[in-house]
Amino acid sequence: MQIFKEKALLTTYLKTIWDKNCAIGFIPTMGALHQGHLSLIKKSLDENNYNVVSIFVNPTQFNNSQDLEKYPRTLEIDIEKIRTICPDCIVFAPSVDDIYEGKTNSKSFNYDGIEHEMEGKHRPGHFDGVGTIVKKLFEIVKPTNAYFGEKDFQQLQIVKKLVAKNDLKVNIIGCPIFRESNGLAMSSRNERLSIKDRDEASIIYKTLLTAKEKFGTKSANEVNNWVKNSLEKNENITLEYFEIADETTLKTCIRKSKNKKYRAFIAVFIDNIRLIDNISLN
Ligand code: PAF
Repeated sequence: MQIFKEKALLTTYLKTIWDKNCAIGFIPTMGALHQGHLSLIKKSLDENNYNVVSIFVNPTQFNNSQDLEKYPRTLEIDIEKIRTICPDCIVFAPSVDDIYEGKTNSKSFNYDGIEHEMEGKHRPGHFDGVGTIVKKLFEIVKPTNAYFGEKDFQQLQIVKKLVAKNDLKVNIIGCPIFRESNGLAMSSRNERLSIKDRDEASIIYKTLLTAKEKFGTKSANEVNNWVKNSLEKNENITLEYFEIADETTLKTCIRKSKNKKYRAFIAVFIDNIRLIDNISLN
């Protein structure tokens, strides 16, 4: 396994691969790797000649300094997890200075309005930070295919827009959500949950499943009200938002249309830890 902590060294190494005209798979991560990340790496392994995993906690996408500070950092463990499934992987784990060269700021992006919905409303600047780092990483790695989990479904749509609008030559591949046995969507933030919190967090997926069932016969508004009322009863969970939205534009569903695909999106706090999830309603 090749591990690079500086982009200049990674670039020198990758030059030999770019010249060969081979398929390069890229899995950008912020570390604290779980089964969901490993499934992205496995998919990349099946579809590419070379595989690059980046591990970088990107400061510009955090709108809350405490969240950034508390984000789990487990580089050595992550490297071992990658090694077990992909001993030939190229790992890129740069420092903030190496990436941002003293200017730790985001660029401003226009994603045709997707950025103003849900996560965009509640995490100002988040998608500018994501766009900034993803574009920088794509420019460094120059991958053929890049893999993103559907847990961050809005991020996946944002990255697709980023690629289309900037004419970047990379295929974006969305991969299904991985869940714990109790239904909780796998996330690096789950590491911060106590055993009791993890148990309680199973209500998120249960709520999504029931919302999906109700959406078969009820309006989006009725489903919204049901979710709000049912989660209000749970003292340890604070609902930030629940939205039923068009899967492509991410605009809120006001009236159902047969020709559209919908998804339900949820964000909650458990013990000050923010968790998100989503489910296809079609
Ligand atoms: O999904 C993540 O872990 C991050 O947002 C990403 C795509 C690695 C950018 O920092």
